[in-house]
Amino acid sequence: MHSDDINFHTRKWIRPEDLNANGTLFGGSLLRWIDEEAAIYAMIQLGNERVVTKYMSEINFLSSATQGDIVEMGLRATRFGRTSLTMRAEVRNLFTRHSILTIDSIVFVNLGDDGRPTPHGQTSITFERDRIPERLRPDVHEPRPR
Ligand SMILES: CC(C)(COP(=O)(O)OP(=O)(O)OC[C@H]1O[C@@H](n2cnc3c(N)ncnc32)[C@H](O)[C@@H]1OP(=O)(O)O)[C@@H](O)C(=O)NCCC(=O)NCCS
Repeated sequence: MHSDDINFHTRKWIRPEDLNANGTLFGGSLLRWIDEEAAIYAMIQLGNERVVTKYMSEINFLSSATQGDIVEMGLRATRFGRTSLTMRAEVRNLFTRHSILTIDSIVFVNLGDDGRPTPHGQTSITFERDRIPERLRPDVHEPRPR
C-alpha cells in the first residue's frame, strides 16, 4: 500500500463508544466509517447517489488506536468498470501516520432507477466537484455555485 497516491478525507476522533473490550478501537466502527466514506467517494466519482457496496477484499488491521486518537480515512479509485468502481482504502493515525487498516479492493456498483446495475460512463478519477449529483431546490432554478 502506498499512502502517497491516496487522498485522505474524513477524520474521526476516537470516543469511548468506539472502543472494544480491549479498550482499543472497535473494528466494526472503523468498517462502518470506511464504508460510508467509500459510498460518498463513489457518488462523487460516478455522479450518482444510487451506489451500493458489492464487495470488500481482505481487510488487514495493522495496528490499533485508542481513545483520543484521531484517524483519517483515505481512498483511491483503482478501476473504473462498466457499472462498477473499485477503490483501495487506508486508515491511518493522523499524528503518527501509522497505518491502522488497509483494504486492497472495495467494489461499488452504480444503480439505475430500477435498482439494477447501470453503466456509469466514467473512466478516470475526478479531483473536482464536477460530478456531484445535482439536487435542484424547487424554488431555485439556477445552477448551484461550484
Ligand atoms: C449490487 C447488485 C445490484 C449487483 O447485481 P449483480 O447481478 O451481481 O450485477 P452484475 O453481475 O451485473 O455485476 C455488476 C458489477 O459488479 C461487479 N461484480 C459483481 N460481483 C463482483 C464481485 N464478487 N467482486 C467484484 N466485482 C463484482 C461486476 O463485475 C460488474 O461490474 P462491471 O459492470 O464494472 O464489470 C446486487 O448484487 C445487490 O443488490 N447486492 C446487494 C448490495 C447491497 O445492498 N449492499 C449494501 C450492503 S448489504
